[in-house]
Amino acid sequence: MLIAQISDTHITTADDEDPKFADRIKALESFVRHIKVLDEKPDLIMHTGDVTHGGLPEYYATVKTAMQGLDIPVYFARGNRDIAENMVAGLKDFSGKIVDGFLIYSIDGNPVRLIAMDTHHREHNMGTTCSVRLGILDELLKKQPDTPTALFMHHPPFEVTTSKYPFQFDDPALADAFLDLIAQHKQVSHMFCGHMHRQYAVQLATCTASCVPSLPADNRLGEFTPGQADKPLYQLHRWNGSGFDTKLCAVD
Ligand SMILES: [Fe+2]
Repeated sequence: MLIAQISDTHITTADDEDPKFADRIKALESFVRHIKVLDEKPDLIMHTGDVTHGGLPEYYATVKTAMQGLDIPVYFARGNRDIAENMVAGLKDFSGKIVDGFLIYSIDGNPVRLIAMDTHHREHNMGTTCSVRLGILDELLKKQPDTPTALFMHHPPFEVTTSKYPFQFDDPALADAFLDLIAQHKQVSHMFCGHMHRQYAVQLATCTASCVPSLPADNRLGEFTPGQADKPLYQLHRWNGSGFDTKLCAVD
């Protein structure tokens, strides 16, 4: 199973006076063109949030247009700059469901089950969780205890030590509650995150976790080679039967 992960596209519309917004749409369009001509296409694409920068319906319409013509499924997690109702209504063939106000859903039928978590704090840009979300996740995980599973979400519930702002959950106790729940479900192999705009990987107590760099170059953080720094970047994750082998890829 091969998964392409993108994140933090922060799309608005090309009407804005700031040219970086037009460049972000171009980055998404060139990613789509690139995926369409790959010799080995990923089985699915997951977007780990901040799809748009503000969540307006017309921003998701821009994303939908840019991703038209892809013949592989695309799944989205909610970022702090997204509005879940507009995502579900406006994105291409998006099958995500809002449960009790939270965008949490599973993608089944692949060698690895994927679960999108909603880490959006309703009042600010930090991540969070709550008993309702953890309850929904717990129920989903209990249904298939023997199926290898990966979560994908926007905010990492762990420290990204290379960042100037390493911890992006509002409350360490809630991040611990999240990780404690994951530790109770041994089938969870990996957590794919966004939000940090930089590349990061870490071994946690019972699973591995990572952050993907932002797709557009203008909002990216961290060090990259000259062949990567000014190009749209994404990651390919190949399931090897017990974990994921990850490769950072540049869009030419
Ligand atoms: Fe974010």
